[in-house]
Amino acid sequence: MGNQIKTIGVLTSGGDAPGMNAAIRAVVRTAIHHGLNVKGIKRGYAGLLKEEIVDMDGLSVADIIHRGGTILYTARCLEFMTEEGQEKGAEICRKHGIDSLVVIGGDGSFRGAQALAALGINTVGVPGTIDLDIACSDYTIGFDTAVNTAMEAIDKVRDTSTSHERCSIIEVMGRNAGYIALWCGIANGAEDILLPERYDNDEQKLIDRIIENRKRGKKHHIIVNAEGIGHSTSMAKRIEAATGIETRATILGHMQRGGTPTCKDRVYASIMGAKAVDLLMEGRSKRLVAYKRGSYVDFDIDEALAMSKDIAEDQYEIFKGLVR
Ligand code: ADP
Ligand code: F6P
Repeated sequence: MGNQIKTIGVLTSGGDAPGMNAAIRAVVRTAIHHGLNVKGIKRGYAGLLKEEIVDMDGLSVADIIHRGGTILYTARCLEFMTEEGQEKGAEICRKHGIDSLVVIGGDGSFRGAQALAALGINTVGVPGTIDLDIACSDYTIGFDTAVNTAMEAIDKVRDTSTSHERCSIIEVMGRNAGYIALWCGIANGAEDILLPERYDNDEQKLIDRIIENRKRGKKHHIIVNAEGIGHSTSMAKRIEAATGIETRATILGHMQRGGTPTCKDRVYASIMGAKAVDLLMEGRSKRLVAYKRGSYVDFDIDEALAMSKDIAEDQYEIFKGLVR
């Protein structure tokens, strides 16, 4: 064993994502398999600062791989964004014998892990967010379940939209990223997708397309709108006024974050959770587990946080070619 770590802490932080439980389970079971102790920290960094720390064993993570949410709960914590909060967090880790920490969350959570690493706690991040917006990774835990949930919901909206010969705007999550919108746009055969990374705010162009499609005999017009653009309800009113076509907005919201994780999310989460423990056992710290071009890899957190990523232009172009 690298630097002889003894006790791994694990927490989930930021927005929850289906598959986080599978990642927690993998961290706990892999660590125990290698003779390490594991402590679960509840409610992310907020729980760390309140010392909401529990011992975990193999049984603590039984019967959770198929459940959405996170058994450790999650939270956002402003205090942890201050140097005093971070020092207090590191001190609490030491007090509880936690020499290493696996942080399952998004970019914000990894900044917390970066700070703790600088204060002597070995940290590894695991990308858990439905938004797919971690620059160094082609995959984030929860994305697959979220897009499947959104896809099924949009199929349902499409049925009623067709019956009523309406235009429907369906708003999907993703914070400032358009990955969920892009994937649903392709999977649901939408007529339009509005992505924060690409939308030119030319609503008249959108309106012209809706009118043209109706003239060609299309019975519905499905617009998948990303949360990063938002304003679906007011957009629907303007489109209805301009086209004379009944238009409704549906905001899918938090349903996209819940539900039974898909097989893909469970498997990726299990592998990433186990890899996080492997890295800590090799004596590595301030690392981020990622999935890149078909392989599981890891990055330095400083480098990972400095990276940027864009939606795949080829996928967007393909989408546009499929709209007829
Ligand atoms: P996500 O991890 O999904 O990106 P947030 O951005 O809300 O979610 O971050 C989750 C938590 O991570 C925050 O509430 C805070 O406790 C911690 N965090 C975020 N940014 C920083 C930072 N710059 N330094 C230290 N901790 C941070
Ligand atoms: O990051 C996951 C996410 O669901 C985003 O898609 C969304 O913008 C945000 O979290 C919503 O956060 P909250 O649960 O605080 O409303």
